[in-house]
Amino acid sequence: MTHVTIVTSLKALLTRDFIWTDEVACSAAAAQLAHALSGGLHAGGSVFIELHGTLGAGKTTFTRHFLRSLGVQGRIKSPSYAVVEQHDLPSLVIQHFDFYRFNDPQEWEDAGFRDLFAAPGLKLAEWPEKAAGLLPQADLHIHIHPQDDDTRRVSVHAYSLVGQDALAALPTLQDLKTVAAASLEVPSHG
Ligand SMILES: Nc1ncnc2c1ncn2[C@@H]1O[C@H](COP(=O)(O)OP(=O)(O)O)[C@@H](O)[C@H]1O
Ligand SMILES: [Mg+2]
Repeated sequence: MTHVTIVTSLKALLTRDFIWTDEVACSAAAAQLAHALSGGLHAGGSVFIELHGTLGAGKTTFTRHFLRSLGVQGRIKSPSYAVVEQHDLPSLVIQHFDFYRFNDPQEWEDAGFRDLFAAPGLKLAEWPEKAAGLLPQADLHIHIHPQDDDTRRVSVHAYSLVGQDALAALPTLQDLKTVAAASLEVPSHG
């Protein structure tokens, strides 16, 4: 009997590449993306972002800057131990997942992850490949590639119209440091 494996590779609606020269640039990119998604999220929308990259690539760092820009105050813990950390804003619930230690599909049901994904709000997932087959289709995939000189090459893929609009709205950040300097002049929520 012939066994046929069907591989479905979904095509991104839009892909853009960026360079984060340092963490300040990462923070600027996070602020720009937060700005692009904030209106829809605070109006009750749902967005799911997958963060891809090796250990130490900057997935948690990006998420911290992103959540700060959305208005999260206080400590933003890495969910690497608890798998998920929840942040509550007045008009937005945020679930930050790290599936690095996730290896039992039964936990998906038992821990209520299905319900968390079914609810509106923002979800971010580090190591989404460890929960492949369980996660819904993401709006954006962010791939962070550390370079030898500590900069990060970043590819962002949009798989939904919401993701496409947000990604298209990001300025062409040739020199992210300029944008970073400008965004740091805006009074922070913290
Ligand atoms: N350009 C950059 N963008 C993001 N993080 C950077 C950058 N350069 C250096 N870093 C550092 O790399 C580390 C990334 O760690 P972390 O965010 O915990 O990675 P991950 O969650 O992907 O395992 C942090 O210490 C951060 O300060
Ligand atoms: Mg992390």
